[in-house]
Amino acid sequence: MSARLSDNLKKIWARAAGTAAAAVAFGSLYFFVRQYFKDGLWRFDLSILNKSLGTAALFLVALSMFLTGAAYFSGPSKRPLAFRKYYGLAGFWTAAVHAAVNHFALPAAGLHPERKIDALTTDLPALAGLVILGAMALLSSSRAKGRLGGEAWRKTLRYGGYAALLLVLAHTVLLKGASWIKYFRTFDPVLPSLSLPVAAFAAAAVVLRLAVWAAQARKK
Ligand code: HEM
Repeated sequence: MSARLSDNLKKIWARAAGTAAAAVAFGSLYFFVRQYFKDGLWRFDLSILNKSLGTAALFLVALSMFLTGAAYFSGPSKRPLAFRKYYGLAGFWTAAVHAAVNHFALPAAGLHPERKIDALTTDLPALAGLVILGAMALLSSSRAKGRLGGEAWRKTLRYGGYAALLLVLAHTVLLKGASWIKYFRTFDPVLPSLSLPVAAFAAAAVVLRLAVWAAQARKK
């Protein structure tokens, strides 16, 4: 690998890691302030960090998928595609930390996540999505590309990515759907859960991908 290429790669990695850190920091601040409006409490604990990890993971995975559509409709520049893989990897690692905090750290701290329906229903799609994202992280290397062949490799990552995004979106809707409906009915607390705009962005990434398919089908 030439020195220039590796410098570029370092910059792309730094940008993806920086975006992940900024998303977790923004989410933590947002959930901290929202808790004050919701429960009248200024308190930062692990459950706030856990919510922001989950929301940041959904944002990063959706951003990675969104860039495919953005690259298709934004003309000849293939720059957005260079970032896609690294935002996806950052999303996977952020989601893995979120799952570990849920499973190990919250119970160890005597805290419980908010759940309106049973854990199996909400966590099974999340676990399936996380496993697919992990498999995609393993497959994303150039060695795996060489073994599978370019076309099969691209298709596997494409369909895997959308399956994972739909599964984690289902996890979020099952967990937070009731809170979003309540928000639109009462506007109380004044700030909605951050998962609401982030899930809307994830849904937009899926719609954008469908628009790419429709545009490609028209060209044939
Ligand atoms: C085994 C894997 C996972 C488990 C067990 C799990 C579990 C949970 C639980 C229990 C909550 C509720 C937290 C609370 O309200 O206090 C939650 C929230 C959330 N999770 Fe996960 N999750 C997993 C994977 C994922 C993945 C892969 C993503 C996205 C890529 C994700 C995104 C979210 C989001 C967006 C929230 C909503 C945060 C909020 O607004 O409160 N989760 N998760």
